[in-house]
Amino acid sequence: MTSNPSLDHWARYWQSGARHSLPHDFSGNYDREVATFWKAQFTTVPAGGSILDVCTGTGAIALLAKDARSDGSVRISAVDGATVDLATLNQIWPDRVSELQDIEFVFGCPVERMDELGPKGPFDLVTSQYGLEYCDLATAAPLIANVLKPGGILAMVTHAGSSEMAGTMADEAADYQLLDEQGYLKLLRSWSKNQLSGQDLAKRLQKVAQALLPFYQQSQSPLLAQVLESTQVALSQPVGQLMSQRQHAAAYLDQLTQAKARLEDMLRVTQLVGDDASWLQPLINSGLKLLEQTEIRVDGEHLAGLGWVLQRKS
Ligand SMILES: C[S@@+](CC[C@H](N)C(=O)[O-])C[C@H]1O[C@@H](n2cnc3c(N)ncnc32)[C@H](O)[C@@H]1O
Repeated sequence: MTSNPSLDHWARYWQSGARHSLPHDFSGNYDREVATFWKAQFTTVPAGGSILDVCTGTGAIALLAKDARSDGSVRISAVDGATVDLATLNQIWPDRVSELQDIEFVFGCPVERMDELGPKGPFDLVTSQYGLEYCDLATAAPLIANVLKPGGILAMVTHAGSSEMAGTMADEAADYQLLDEQGYLKLLRSWSKNQLSGQDLAKRLQKVAQALLPFYQQSQSPLLAQVLESTQVALSQPVGQLMSQRQHAAAYLDQLTQAKARLEDMLRVTQLVGDDASWLQPLINSGLKLLEQTEIRVDGEHLAGLGWVLQRKS
């Protein structure tokens, strides 16, 4: 396993206990239309065949593959560039420990280095949910084509430019910008480094809260609500106690910084994919053919992403 600092925000997200990328929409594993899309792909793999899930996170899609092929007739492997481990996965999926053991996980394995670090192919099916669009596709595409058998399938669910999730992400990004502009993040930094007197700190917290309040009243943003509430709790304490809480300030700053990095990553790839197929060009150039492009709407409404099926030419 190698450590990839640029994916630390993902490693931290998984270590915090998240099961997948859409915890608000799916409390267990992905289900409904998302699971239906995947089941249709898994059933195409012949007995004795193999599946590789890339950018697997905690293995959510690999576990769906396990459900669809519970007779053990296919080999399932999964890779992710972030540093996670099986012990963390066992905690996240306590009722799936034996299935997790049957999946060959390789963490610290960027798709762009799969040829040196990844599991041995070739595979009948490569899967990616909110995954390949995060990679350097010019480098990753030939490696994906190489691990596929001739005629093998690459199936993906990607972010969609016009999804509700894209709108929520844009709003949240605006909130982080506001926290930056109003000096909240800088204030947390100074607090955590003990650079302010207690009185100064209280005064500045008060000032930031006053500046943020009208924005919250207008947007009702959950992030601003959380910041305002924690500021109110802090200000209700004696100044001496406030100063002794610098470790809490450091932890909160860290949490906000990681969440902001994750959000920026998601926004970047959502814009990259947009709503058309042009971003796939490196895959097409590597000998894959686009067979299917579909919208995946949960409960027939909320657009969770775009489904793509490509085939390596025989
Ligand atoms: C949005 S999450 C999706 C995880 C999982 N497929 C799911 O749906 O829950 C993106 C994942 O891609 C991984 N990732 C990003 N860039 C990568 C790369 N270049 N190589 C391998 N994994 C990468 C991240 O570490 C993260 O776990």
